[in-house]
Amino acid sequence: MKVLILFHSLGGHTEQLAREIAVGASSIIDAEYKTFDRAEPEEIRQADGLIVGSPSYFGNPTPEIAEFWKSISHLRADMQGKAGAAFSTGLHQSGGRETTILSILHSMLIFGMVVAGDPLETGGHYGLTTYGDITEQDKINARLFGERIAKIAGKLAQREQ
Ligand SMILES: Cc1cc2nc3c(=O)[nH]c(=O)nc-3n(C[C@H](O)[C@H](O)[C@H](O)COP(=O)(O)O)c2cc1C
Repeated sequence: MKVLILFHSLGGHTEQLAREIAVGASSIIDAEYKTFDRAEPEEIRQADGLIVGSPSYFGNPTPEIAEFWKSISHLRADMQGKAGAAFSTGLHQSGGRETTILSILHSMLIFGMVVAGDPLETGGHYGLTTYGDITEQDKINARLFGERIAKIAGKLAQREQ
């Protein structure tokens, strides 16, 4: 069982979160993180869970992430019933990270995925977000988020078997 963490990051903030999410997720099941454009369609198809991260650009995922969904639209049937979750970084406190996450979750819903947010320990809302420099607490939160989504992905995958 495996969870795939895909992200877009030019400045490294979103990548730092992806790395910590992978640390948390890999304590439960296999986990791998990579930029969205390095993931082969076949590995996305085979993953039991998908966690997608994007910086907030004007309150939305980056155009590259929007294009990513388009590029994997042929996998829609394969993604049915898999766990999905989202994370986002931004520069400003009210800079639209939640709207960014919700946009990613909307796409996951359209792919038939079962979406989940962050664990109660970190607030229990839409997913993982940070703004400004990544702090030690952000890294702890990212690991807890990764653990939660990996547990859900594992449970859903077991039910499928
Ligand atoms: C074109 C552009 C638009 C942005 N729009 C927002 C925004 O609406 N809200 C915000 O908080 N930050 C915004 N930012 C800042 C980035 O979201 C932030 O620096 C993010 O952490 C960058 O992630 P990265 O280091 O992984 O590339 C924007 C940056 C760029 C380049």
